[in-house]
Amino acid sequence: MAMGTSEAVLQVFSGAVPCLFGSDPCFSKSDSMSPFKSHIKSVKKRGSRYMLKCSYMIRSHIMTHRLHGVGGGLYGNTSIHRSQLQSCKCQRADSVSGIASEAGNGTWFVDNAKKRNPINGVMDTPNVLEFQDVQELKPEMEGSISNGAVETARDTFVKVRVDSIEDEAWDLLRESMVYYCGSPIGTIAAKDPTSSNVLNYDQVFIRDFIPSGIAFLLKGEYDIVRNFILHTLQLQSWEKTMDCHSPGQGLMPASFKVRTVPLDGDDSATEEVLDPDFGEAAIGRVAPVDSGLWWIILLRAYGKCSGDLSVQERIDVQTGIKMILRLCLADGFDMFPTLLVTDGSCMIDRRMGIHGHPLEIQALFYSALLCAREMLAPEDGSADLIRALNNRLVALSFHIREYYWIDMKKLNEIYRYKTEEYSYDAVNKFNIYPDQISPWLVEWMPNKGGYLIGNLQPAHMDFRFFSLGNLWSIISSLATMDQSHAILDLVEAKWGDLVADMPLKICYPALEGQEWQIITGSDPKNTPWSYHNAGSWPTLLWQLTVACIKMDRPQIAAKAVEIAERRIARDKWPEYYDTKKARFIGKQARLFQTWSIAGYLVAKLLLSDPTAAKILITEEDSELVNAFSCMISANPRRKRGRKSSTQTFIV
Ligand code: GLC
Repeated sequence: MAMGTSEAVLQVFSGAVPCLFGSDPCFSKSDSMSPFKSHIKSVKKRGSRYMLKCSYMIRSHIMTHRLHGVGGGLYGNTSIHRSQLQSCKCQRADSVSGIASEAGNGTWFVDNAKKRNPINGVMDTPNVLEFQDVQELKPEMEGSISNGAVETARDTFVKVRVDSIEDEAWDLLRESMVYYCGSPIGTIAAKDPTSSNVLNYDQVFIRDFIPSGIAFLLKGEYDIVRNFILHTLQLQSWEKTMDCHSPGQGLMPASFKVRTVPLDGDDSATEEVLDPDFGEAAIGRVAPVDSGLWWIILLRAYGKCSGDLSVQERIDVQTGIKMILRLCLADGFDMFPTLLVTDGSCMIDRRMGIHGHPLEIQALFYSALLCAREMLAPEDGSADLIRALNNRLVALSFHIREYYWIDMKKLNEIYRYKTEEYSYDAVNKFNIYPDQISPWLVEWMPNKGGYLIGNLQPAHMDFRFFSLGNLWSIISSLATMDQSHAILDLVEAKWGDLVADMPLKICYPALEGQEWQIITGSDPKNTPWSYHNAGSWPTLLWQLTVACIKMDRPQIAAKAVEIAERRIARDKWPEYYDTKKARFIGKQARLFQTWSIAGYLVAKLLLSDPTAAKILITEEDSELVNAFSCMISANPRRKRGRKSSTQTFIV
């Protein structure tokens, strides 16, 4: 369901407020401590929940605009016409795509990218995009015009179609922008006019905003990202409780909503408040472990892209980074360097059997540690934290590379494992019983290629392939170069399963039958080949693109984008697709899902300027490689000594 009319009007008009105030009053650059002190205060609402509140009045300005049509500003003047604009664009996109889907050859934007800016020299496979359906030209066209002219006409068709899809995506992305006190601070998860049940899709999700934020950064629109970073930072330290229990202080919310509420003591005016959800209202009450990790990754990308390092240097931002790190690096009962989390703590935010040490969290954790290390200002007080961070980086990369990796060779080793080994140098450290190797895996594992498994626990390997975790392991250099190439080899070898009719499967394969019943709790939304249970999520395109660019194989991503382009706009930008081959729009999928739109745009922007991907990539550094090789050559027994001053993990 779309936002209520009054809310939509408020948002639209709020866009005009900066014209009145000149600049965002919440973030004066000169105040590096807390930008909110004078404007924002906490309000206790709905029992123990707190909200962030912007205390200056806004409605009277809005009323002035409405009644007198003053000022206007971009959004103020265009509010009435925006929906017309959209439907107009949609129509144009549809009518053009009808012709172009038959005429395109898929090479247009790869060629274009090649001309513009290959990241590591020339791309060597200009002909990789061999799509039978798009290579065949209409016979009548061939008959009537020369080959050269056909080429040109075809290229023009494709370009017009693709341009119109991109234009539509940008319009939709801008329409999804959420304003707070007159400034853009995020994008709403979905703006689906056909859905009657909004749930929390009208909120700004931290993880969903990342592709939106990257798209805006790549377009040179930095304010929305800066505002998002600083406002969510304020939410981080809010007091939060769930049935009298408070989670760790560094926790970032899963999402937040801008609410318009009556101003205390004044019936004629309203004010806006930020209302965060840390999981205490989320379906299943899941803690969003990934939010803080994404926040750090976006913060670094913001600095790298805009060149404005003043945000990451602010004391409150530095404190925010440290709070997240402390929460993640805190001592617990863990024997492993991987982060121990509950089910549903990331993109897969409901029960799917990923509790323990899921790959997605580990890859984001590793990436966030590297990003934080780059941004933390050296100061005496943080020496211990930085030491802990470095130790963890080494232990984590060793652990994942060594124990999560699987390919034909490793699979065969596991198949021949001895079990019940009680010793310090056991080969089968986690006591994996070979019978766990599922029949599907024996068939599925290609001769060339491999991947990182989904999870590792005592006597348990989750052999499912999880896309985000594998892609982000490439992007962050958690996987070695060889492993990274092998993951992409596997994506190519298993194209029909992972990409099929719409990129990209969130995981493979689906849980079925009794396994589905037990592991998901018979979740009707997560039936086999739907939603989190091996559904296909177009948003993952941007991560596939970054990973492919990093490995200098952008043509793989280009091919996936081309497939998405055939139907994503026509299908109204769904959240996910169902069935083994991603043929149906997801059973309960939202339409106009913002991160599907933004994911597509980021993929396109990066393919046309691959060097820009460096704002997300972290390269393996030599210090780590050294420490890593010392670790491999060291005798594991020596690490058990009591004198060791550094924290030790099972590696
Ligand atoms: C679903 C997804 C989650 C996403 C949210 C908002 O719950 O599983 O990853 O953040 O929708 O789009």
